[in-house]
Amino acid sequence: MALISCENICLAYDDKEVISDLSFQVNRGDMLCIVGENGSGKTTLIKGLLGLISPVKGKIVMGDGLRQKEIGYMPQQTMAQKDFPASVFEIVLSGCLASRGLKPFYGKKEKTAALENIKKLGIENLKNRCYHELSGGQQQRVLLARALCATKTILLLDEPVAALDPVATDELYHVIEDLNKKEKITVIMVSHDIKCSIGHSTHVLHLQDEGTFFGTVAEYKKSSQAKRFLGGCCDHD
Ligand SMILES: Nc1ncnc2c1ncn2[C@@H]1O[C@H](COP(=O)(O)OP(=O)(O)O)[C@@H](O)[C@H]1O
Ligand SMILES: [Mg+2]
Repeated sequence: MALISCENICLAYDDKEVISDLSFQVNRGDMLCIVGENGSGKTTLIKGLLGLISPVKGKIVMGDGLRQKEIGYMPQQTMAQKDFPASVFEIVLSGCLASRGLKPFYGKKEKTAALENIKKLGIENLKNRCYHELSGGQQQRVLLARALCATKTILLLDEPVAALDPVATDELYHVIEDLNKKEKITVIMVSHDIKCSIGHSTHVLHLQDEGTFFGTVAEYKKSSQAKRFLGGCCDHD
């Protein structure tokens, strides 16, 4: 059974429908890249998958025992978050909120998990540094470690490389790919940088008014949507 299955969903704000009649599935081990122009509904879809907004039509079915609170989420970054006055360790630890439950403090279990994820992302040397002093690429690794504290199964990443330079972008893609391949974490990633992101994905969901595409990367490269969006860049595989 698919980990997440969206069946003919519509997502809307008041009367304004942003996503219409959308169906797709995400299976364990997939890396799905969601692309589309500004305002096409990528973040809205992520909010729907997290259960922050409910579909007005259709349904989102979680399979394989997945629960919404066990999804690791990395939001689209805002300027306010960049200046967040906390240490790297504190920020990563805050990702354990769901497993902390009703306890007033984080216990040994949460602290160990935070440290493990800090090590996994190669930022142990930054553990006691202040988040706002770090480079963009380092900050994104901290937020990824934080998202990992909530899950061993699936990560939802909203534009993780948006503010990064090409070198930091490449590094972060490799980190995400390693989490997918080596740690077997399913990844759903929103990205603007379509050419690069499909190089790391297994599936593509392209949201657009003129017809949404969902399928494997190989199918996408042959699609009319990709031809328009990517130009000649799919000619070399
Ligand atoms: N909280 C909200 N209330 C009303 N409209 C919203 C809200 N959030 C987003 N929208 C609108 O929904 C559309 C899709 O937005 P969004 O999902 O953020 O797009 P994307 O992430 O693809 O850029 C846009 O037209 C946006 O203005
Ligand atoms: Mg967005």
